[in-house]
Amino acid sequence: MLLLGGTGYIGRALAPELARRGYRPVVLARNPEVKNDAEFADAEIVAGDPTRPGDVTAATEGVDVVISLLSGRRPNDAEECRLVDHEAVVNGIRAAVSHEVKQFIHVSDFGAYRPELIPQVYKLQVEGELIGQHHGALPWTIIRPTAYYPYLSMTFGDVKNGLKYRIFDHGEYNVVNPIAREDLAEFITNQVLCDDALGRVLPVGGPWVEDNVVTLKDAGRMMFELNGRTPDWEVVTMASWDRKIARLTRLGKVSKQLKPVAYYLEAAKYWSVVDHVAPAYGTRTLRGFMEKLVDREWPTGSFRERMKSGTNVMPTDV
Ligand SMILES: NC(=O)c1ccc[n+]([C@@H]2O[C@H](COP(=O)([O-])OP(=O)(O)OC[C@H]3O[C@@H](n4cnc5c(N)ncnc54)[C@H](OP(=O)(O)O)[C@@H]3O)[C@@H](O)[C@H]2O)c1
Repeated sequence: MLLLGGTGYIGRALAPELARRGYRPVVLARNPEVKNDAEFADAEIVAGDPTRPGDVTAATEGVDVVISLLSGRRPNDAEECRLVDHEAVVNGIRAAVSHEVKQFIHVSDFGAYRPELIPQVYKLQVEGELIGQHHGALPWTIIRPTAYYPYLSMTFGDVKNGLKYRIFDHGEYNVVNPIAREDLAEFITNQVLCDDALGRVLPVGGPWVEDNVVTLKDAGRMMFELNGRTPDWEVVTMASWDRKIARLTRLGKVSKQLKPVAYYLEAAKYWSVVDHVAPAYGTRTLRGFMEKLVDREWPTGSFRERMKSGTNVMPTDV
């Protein structure tokens, strides 16, 4: 099983799960030193860069299934997203076609049903190219997971550090059943070489229980409760947020520095208004994940300062 993007958050749960279920995961890694990480104890690490077609073709030799988890680490950088979320995945598809692999699994995004953020647009484009057999004949499976827990816990550290929790108006525009990476790893492995999964788009979310089905305000309530605090909301009106987005989008056209800021304002709105509700799988809950965060130390600094390091600021070791 070749994992592209296997060194990321999900890959680190998927590689051990595949090995546990009797498969042999091979991970194409930009940094081959990951071979010393415990998650890859039972995986083969091949040095290479998925953005280089030759590296991907060489790694695909002798492989039955290719699984792509590729995703740019700076979702506000349109060029990086194009290079990783589209071009590198297409390298994988082309290599899979030429080696006649038995299945290509594209881990997409539940948000592809309403693609408003750059990575989702590329995820959807790849879906279309697979479904349309754009790069040649290839048995495919598309998995669309809802958000993972780290996204909803980005503000956990702020709440622990005594700050307010931002909500738009009433804070209950949307609902999400996020999924734990261990449950998603199980779900992906269930689809490997499964006839029923071929040619299917499979949306998936976490358990449909009170501790896992939340609005943004519910997620905040959990954070306050687990940190022993009374809820302290920063209520922002959506109308004023929209004005801010419009202003920064205009300024972003002339200032390179402001462009990413406009993206984050839009992303904050997106995650506050678009439902991410998918068929339930697994047992792990958002509350269970947050309970594991309670004893951690959290960096201080504004949200904007922290977001400069992209998705690396998320608590991905939990
Ligand atoms: N996070 C969510 O809530 C969420 C929800 C639904 C779907 N998804 C999708 O699920 C998949 C897996 O997500 P994840 O959280 O595991 O992603 P992740 O932790 O951000 O990992 C991204 C992977 O892509 C590689 N990558 C990033 N930039 C690269 C570049 N410039 N060149 C080459 N490789 C590069 C990374 O390699 P390095 O380790 O070398 O950087 C890593 O292996 C992605 O398709 C994501 O879009 C995520």
